[in-house]
Amino acid sequence: MHKTPAPRLSRNRSRLAHKVRYALRHPQRVLPYLRRAGRDGWFRFRHRGSHIAYYRAVMASDTARSPAAAVGGAPSHDRWLAIGQLQYDYLVRHGLKPQDRMLEIGCGNLRAGWRFIEYLEPGHYVGIDISPDILIEAKKTLVHYGLQDKMPYLTPVDNLKLDFLPDAWFTVVHAHSVFSHSPLEVIDECLSHVGRVLAPGGFFDFTYDRTEGSEHQVLGEDFYYRTETLIRLAEKHGLVAGFMDDWERLPHGQSKLRVSHPGPGPAT
Ligand SMILES: C[S@@+](CC[C@H](N)C(=O)[O-])C[C@H]1O[C@@H](n2cnc3c(N)ncnc32)[C@H](O)[C@@H]1O
Repeated sequence: MHKTPAPRLSRNRSRLAHKVRYALRHPQRVLPYLRRAGRDGWFRFRHRGSHIAYYRAVMASDTARSPAAAVGGAPSHDRWLAIGQLQYDYLVRHGLKPQDRMLEIGCGNLRAGWRFIEYLEPGHYVGIDISPDILIEAKKTLVHYGLQDKMPYLTPVDNLKLDFLPDAWFTVVHAHSVFSHSPLEVIDECLSHVGRVLAPGGFFDFTYDRTEGSEHQVLGEDFYYRTETLIRLAEKHGLVAGFMDDWERLPHGQSKLRVSHPGPGPAT
């Protein structure tokens, strides 16, 4: 059951006609958009050839303004709490146990991570992110919630090769609102390595901005993919991916895929 309205799924936000229509409907957003486009253009020029370096600069700039906005758009603490809760509740409904060993890719400032850390046994949470600035904020979140005894491992990365992590270790890998900001080669890199760190029976859940029209991106920041593209990419790396219908019923604009090793696999 795909609840997202059909016009939203076929919209191409990179087209000039879409931008003009949007500007006419939301004139107050034109100036902020132009400022963002100018800033992003400069970052793209400075870091040409490296999406990760470019996006790290975007995160540094956004985090300096508001860490909550940097991980989710709206700078509201209530929204920050609600989206973290949504991610946490979903995984608990899907059987997350304190004994699970979790890797969170793009953990941000622990919007959901602090809840996972609180729930999991000590040492069972690893959070990685390309942005040192947001990881400093993550440490503040950890202190705020008094979770030092849980000994989570938080570390910056500049690729998704996951080469510093052990084989077959993680029962749950989670990436929320990360591939919605990633070009296909970043997702490809992640899918080519995540199978190695996934424990037997483990799974990797990630959200993405779904389109049923042509795939496109806006400002090198927001990427829209067709579900079959991502399913085929997982298959290319010997993994299977399933669309999470129950996630569609939740108040969140992105869709979710669950990737695992072929075989009996996790219960969805
Ligand atoms: C929209 S925020 C979401 C953060 C967190 N998952 C949450 O739900 O609050 C996206 C995060 O992913 C990180 N990120 C983006 N691309 C990444 C990559 N290729 N590898 C690791 N982290 C990445 C960003 O730095 C940012 O912290």
